[in-house]
Amino acid sequence: METTSEPWGITPSGERVKLFTLSDEITVKISNYGGTIVSIQAPDRSGRMGEVTLGFNTVDGYINSDFYLGATIGRYANRIANGEFYIDGEAYKLAQNNGPNHLHGGIKGYDKVVWDAELLESGLRLSYRSTDMEEGYPGTLEASITFTLREDRLELDYLAVTDNPTVVNLTNHAYFNLAGGGSVLRHRLWIDSDRYSPVGENMIPLGKHDVVEGTPFDFREATEVGGRINDGHVQLERGGGYDHNYVLNQISNPQIRVTEPESGRTLEVSTTMPGVQFYTGNFLDGSDKGRNGPINRRSGLCLETQFFPDSPNQPDFPSTILRPCEKYIEKTVYRFTTES
Ligand code: BGC
Repeated sequence: METTSEPWGITPSGERVKLFTLSDEITVKISNYGGTIVSIQAPDRSGRMGEVTLGFNTVDGYINSDFYLGATIGRYANRIANGEFYIDGEAYKLAQNNGPNHLHGGIKGYDKVVWDAELLESGLRLSYRSTDMEEGYPGTLEASITFTLREDRLELDYLAVTDNPTVVNLTNHAYFNLAGGGSVLRHRLWIDSDRYSPVGENMIPLGKHDVVEGTPFDFREATEVGGRINDGHVQLERGGGYDHNYVLNQISNPQIRVTEPESGRTLEVSTTMPGVQFYTGNFLDGSDKGRNGPINRRSGLCLETQFFPDSPNQPDFPSTILRPCEKYIEKTVYRFTTES
């Protein structure tokens, strides 16, 4: 394992940004701007290294993008209905930056701030302190993500503590494309999940999970991502494709596997978190110019390990409230292998 660091530009407010490279069997580039996974290079079945994420060559690309490419998402990943929630009877109001809803931490979420960085022997630790009422969230939250590279595995260890009750849901928003380009519809996906969270017209979960059995949401056997995406299911129409939370069965390890048949590249995801947002990049529209040209619709897929969307307003979902006496400790591992 080797780590290097280099200067990577300056934000409009004058903060210096760095790019870190971790190299082992895969090569991972991470910036402290937005806690962003900028690049992952992984071998195909003949050993040829290739890019497997969508991204930009410069920090300006990330500063100007609204698509959260590779970024760390917080304080609360995914949607909070109408940008409001209660803790202990106290009302909190957040930005409504996605129709009527709050999305991915607000106007200036964790994806748009510069994190403190510390190089470690086997990786990198990024830390960010968000002050009380930043983006409307109560409590000062000290968050860190330790990125560890071990052979073919990139491990993300999330830690957060607060001085007042708050809500926390941290994730990474990498868009994967194991072919290195083109659409992701031919990728094959397996998710160990029997239930998913159907949403209303405003993309907020309806509150009860539905069984995947007999629907295009069933990935309990490896299935082509695009095989059923246009079959007219009302939930797929709502999301413009897959953009849904899956309730992980939490029995197997890994819980998710994606394979790209041509290259054989395979991504396995394991997590301690109860859910994953499977998103097929439906809103990407070619307006962002990435490292290989326009970033087109469905040219990347996200597997955002997470607590469930809108949990602060959903009494039947696992709680996302963090109190001062508690620690938020979660882990997600991405492993890159090949299928022969
Ligand atoms: C959400 C999408 C959203 C996208 C933004 C995803 O996590 O589920 O609805 O448009 O992030 O890039």
